[in-house]
Order: sequence, then C-alpha cells, then structure tokens
Amino acid sequence: MTAVPRAFPGHLLSPLQIGPVELANRIVSTAHQTTLVHEHLPTEDFVAYHEARARGEVGLIVLEATAVHESGLLTGHTLAGYLPAIVSGYRTVARAVKPHGTRLFVQLFHGGREQIASPPRAPALAPSAVPSSRFKVEPRAATEEEIDELVAGYARAAELAGEGGIEGVEISAAHNYLLAQFFTPELNRRTDRWRAGPALLLAVVDAVRRSAPELALGVRLSADSAAAASVAPLLADRVDYLSVALGESSTYRGSSGIVPPPPVPENVIGAHTEPFKVGPPLMATSRIVDPSEADRLLGSGVADALGMTRALIADPDLPRKVAEGRSPEVLRCIGCNACIAHYHAGTPIACAQNSRTGRERTLGPPELVTSPRRIVVVGAGPAGLAATAEALASGHEVIVLERAPQVGGQVKLAGAAPGHAELARTLHLNYEHLTHGADLRLETEASAELVASLAPDAVVLATGARPYEPELDLDGSEAVQAWDVLAGRLPEGRRVVVADWGGDATGFDAAEVLAAADKSVTLALASVAAGEGVHQYARNLYLARLCEAGVRLVHHVELAGAALGRLRFRNLFSPELEVELEADAVVLALGRVPVDDLAPELRALGLPVEEAGDCRSPRSLEEAIYEGTLASRRVAGGRPWTQKLSSLLRSSSNPAELFG
Ligand SMILES: Cc1cc2nc3c(=O)[nH]c(=O)nc-3n(C[C@H](O)[C@H](O)[C@H](O)COP(=O)(O)O)c2cc1C
Ligand code: SF4
Repeated sequence: MTAVPRAFPGHLLSPLQIGPVELANRIVSTAHQTTLVHEHLPTEDFVAYHEARARGEVGLIVLEATAVHESGLLTGHTLAGYLPAIVSGYRTVARAVKPHGTRLFVQLFHGGREQIASPPRAPALAPSAVPSSRFKVEPRAATEEEIDELVAGYARAAELAGEGGIEGVEISAAHNYLLAQFFTPELNRRTDRWRAGPALLLAVVDAVRRSAPELALGVRLSADSAAAASVAPLLADRVDYLSVALGESSTYRGSSGIVPPPPVPENVIGAHTEPFKVGPPLMATSRIVDPSEADRLLGSGVADALGMTRALIADPDLPRKVAEGRSPEVLRCIGCNACIAHYHAGTPIACAQNSRTGRERTLGPPELVTSPRRIVVVGAGPAGLAATAEALASGHEVIVLERAPQVGGQVKLAGAAPGHAELARTLHLNYEHLTHGADLRLETEASAELVASLAPDAVVLATGARPYEPELDLDGSEAVQAWDVLAGRLPEGRRVVVADWGGDATGFDAAEVLAAADKSVTLALASVAAGEGVHQYARNLYLARLCEAGVRLVHHVELAGAALGRLRFRNLFSPELEVELEADAVVLALGRVPVDDLAPELRALGLPVEEAGDCRSPRSLEEAIYEGTLASRRVAGGRPWTQKLSSLLRSSSNPAELFG
C-alpha cells in the first residue's frame, strides 16, 4: 500500500481507531448494494468493484446489506450472510481489498416488513402487522420463537464474517428496516418482552458482541429519526462506532432521503449529527462529495469519519487523488442516482458519469496509443464530451464541432431548472477538466463538407436529439416546446398547461421553471404514474416541489388538440372520455427524436464513423456517456478485446458467460 502523505489539510487523511481496527484515513465507502451478486454470494465483478476502491485508498469499505436470515433478503440479489458458503466469498474480497490497506466491514441486515423482491417472497416479518406503504408489503407479527431465531441469525452471521476475514460488522438499524421497526412506536404494538423500543436492537448487539468479540462492532441509524436519536445513548457503551445516514424505506418521501439527489444540498447530513455524538466514533454520510468540504466537516466536529459513497462510486481513486494533491482531478458525482436506479431495476451497479464503474474487469482505463490520430467529434453534449475525454486520454488529437454557443447539450438546458442545476454544473466541471486540450469550435454547424475538410482519421457523431413535434391541430393556442421554456423563452400567456408524456423529467423541469415565473401551471400527464422514467427518489422530490409551488396535476390524459383557447385531452384508458382544460398556452414535453442526418453523408464520403448517444435513439445520460466512451475506443484504437466485449457488456455479470 502507498503510505498516505499528510499533504491534504488536516482531518480527512488522518487515521482513526474504531475498536480494534485502525483506519488509514477517514473516508468510508458505506454499505451499498451492487447487484454484483449471484445466488446470494459475491461474484468476481463484486470483488473487482471493491478492489478498485481499495486501490484508490479508501480507509474503510462496509460491504452491502447482508441478510442474517432468509426471511430478511431484500431482493434476489442480497448477500446471504447466514450461508456457510459466504465465508469463502468474504475471503476472496478480503484478499483483494486488505493488501491495499483498506479495512473491511460488512453490514448485517434484515428488512423486516420492507421487501423489494418479486414472488416467491418469504412471509414478511415485522414487530406487528402494519402494512408498509411504499413497497405495499403486508407483514405479520413475528412470533417470539422467530425473534429468538433472528437474534441467533445476527450472531451466526457475525461469526461467519469473522471466519471470512471481515474485520468489523455494522448492524443496520437505519432506514426503518427490521430493528428500527421495533423501536418505532407506531410500528410496534406488541405486548411481550419485545414491546420495549430498543430491546431487540440491544439484544442483537449483545449477541453479536458475544459471538464475534474480536470484530469491530457498529450500528447504523437514521439521523432524521427521533426514535433513532433516543436509542443512540443506549448504544454508547456497547459499540465501537455509530454510523448515521438519512431517510427511511417505508414512505415515498422518506425513501428519497436514503440516497438523496440534488437539489437536496451538499453535506446535508452535517445538520443532523449532534444527537448521535454519544461517545463512540461517529461516521456520517449523505451528499458529501467534495474532499475539501469533507475536511471542513471533520474539522468542525460534525463527525469522526465520513461516508462518501456515491463520490466513490463515481471516482474510486478519490482518496488517492486527494492524498497526492490532485483533488481537481476527482471525477465528481453528479447526483443523478443512476447507481441506485440500477439497484432498483435489479441490474449490476453502474455510474452515469463513470462508465467503468461495475465494469472494472472488462472496461480498462484509456491507454496511450503510439500513433495518435485526428478524431472529429460532432456534438458537445454528454456523449460527445465523453468521446472527447476518452480520445484525449488515449493521446489523440480531437476537434469538437458544436452548433450551440456552449457545451452540455440537453444537460445544459435542463440545468435551468432546480432539479438539474447542480447536475449540469458538476458535469460541466468534470468535462472542463477531462476535455482540456481539445480544439473546441462552438457555434459551428457541422456539414459533411466541413467535417471532411478537417481530414479526420475517424468521426464520432454525437448529434443528440430534438423534441418530438406531434401532428396536432392546436388552433388558437400558443404552443411552445418545453426545451424553449428551459432556454428562457417562456410563453406569453399566464395560464399554461404542460402536456407531459410522463416519461422523462423535461415536463417536470419546465413546470417548475414556469411556476417560478409566476405562471399558473397545470401538468397534464399522459402516463399511469408521473415521471415513469425518472428515478423514484428524484421523482418524489419533484412531486413535492411541484405541489408546494401550486402546480395542478391532471393524471391519465393525452393531448388531442385545441380550439378557441381550450385544450382537448383524451383519457388514456377510455379514449372516448374527453377533458377540456382552459389555457393561454400549451407547453409540449412529448419525448424526443434523434438528430441523425449526418451519418449517411459522412459514410458516403468514406469516412469511418461511430455514433453515440441520443442520435442513435434518445435515451438517458448514462447511455450517452457510455456510448461516447466506447465510440472513441473503437475509432481511436482501443484494445480489441474491449471492443469485442462491448456488445456483450451488461448482458451478464457472470464472466464465464461473456467468454463462453
Ligand atoms: C446503490 C446504492 C445501494 C445502497 N445500499 C445500501 C445498503 O445496502 N445499506 C445501507 O445502509 N445503505 C445503502 N445505501 C445508502 C448509502 O450507504 C449512503 O448512505 C447513501 O448513498 C448516501 O450517501 P452518499 O451521498 O455519500 O452517496 C445505498 C446507496 C446506493 C447508492
Ligand atoms: S450514478 Fe450518478 S449519483 Fe450515482 S455515483 Fe454516478 S454520478 Fe453519482
């Protein structure tokens, strides 16, 4: 392991003792499910994922929520800490992680009445039979015998962790999972010995300590729970550390706190730690992304160590870059929550900003080529910027042609709205650094002739998308695209209906901008639920803000036309039912179509062309950046094995299938 120099001011890189374990620094990768799990055991991709973060010199990795009993499996991809086979899985991870000086803990978990899994599910166990509103789970009260079995399950799981070379266990009593359900008064209606709030948590802590006394022992709590704050002092003499995060699983609003997206402010956890400073070292996590801010938080006594979980998902090398005085090179998390969206979709972890996350074994870093080429990239949205960054990192010359007066494409546009402002700023910051050295030509319309005149060895087309324009008779109504609203061209009328197809966040963003400009806004949604393509944590916060801003939501209606200042909508499910909405203007957010005219012309000229992102068909930021990265590797001479794998990537997390 490289010794961590003390160059960075003060706190973040100083060691910390947690029970029997010394951390080399105070940066923690807190528990997070990776879906790099097969039959409830770690895969080789799981090992490579954590090894990459250890190589980046993170002080502590807490492995993801690991079930202590089969009734506590949150999904089909949850690690099973009760299976004897987990021991060799742990050992493989420990062998990969520990030589880098990173310490390795695991989180012991039971979801109780929270279950994400699809059928066949085990019966949901809880303190009492109180249905859970987000996942619509209807649990039953666990019997006393079952509770005894669960306590034994925690103890056994800790024992197995110790056998596997894990150095500490963290008991999850956060996010309103099983142990928190017992100490949350409205969820515990028992009359037996488990009625007393924290009785079960304390029994579990004591049982784990007895069964694995050599391990560091911590408890994770939700810092925004009053019940958790009252439990913390009872743990002071029993644990080696406390860990706090935000949020709770059982409600829509509460769940958004678990992995809070912007505009939840950076460092939000800082305001919540006071009640948890009860003696043992305190770890605090939520929206800490900036190393110097992290250092300041530690210096001001907010906590003793900090989870920088998404920050490390985006850039596993963050700690090493900080230690080497290269903080400006950190690839910053943009808060898009694609990582947790993968978890909820049951697919392997990925990062929209860093295409290598979750692909550590198959997508290597850029390698310098011996004969640099000239690459022309058309379009400086995320796909074009990613292509540019990748080509530059391999040593190629890159010319970027962008029609707009600035880079960023749709992200730049969306950045006008509160839901995307920070994302757009951070993405810009990241690419400002990564594309330094490119010949960027703004306000330049790329024709086939212009591109050919630059004599490129290869071209990456990342020309993006434009809004879909429906063939509708909107006679007498002022109609503008949502993109116009985001670009600052608001409709003149005051009463505005945003006709939203209910897919992406464009309609939400436009409605928020219009409401802030004092328009009277109705959001008419042509979908079963609002924002069906928006990750649920961001969607919940959008809906909260829109309701608070007085935006009226009309569900299940599709724009059909307009006449005499009245907009006509059809009921999605019963098209003969029509709804009329009075409005001065309609704003269209009805999806996108690709801008893809240049490719055939360039190919006709014999130029090697790769396309990336929305010009292939509009999708999310994640595909744009991934395809931009791969496009550059293909045209610019990435390793052949990587090219061969690119089409197979994501089809499996099992490497044998990839090579078979
Ligand atoms: C993909 C993903 C999975 C997560 N799974 C867990 C988990 O297993 N246990 C847990 O306590 N928290 C889990 N979390 C929450 C994180 O530990 C952390 O508290 C949260 O991401 C906020 O911190 P950050 O802003 O530094 O990312 C998860 C977060 C992510 C992004
Ligand atoms: S996917 Fe988005 S939120 Fe998650 S780590 Fe990457 S940049 Fe951050």
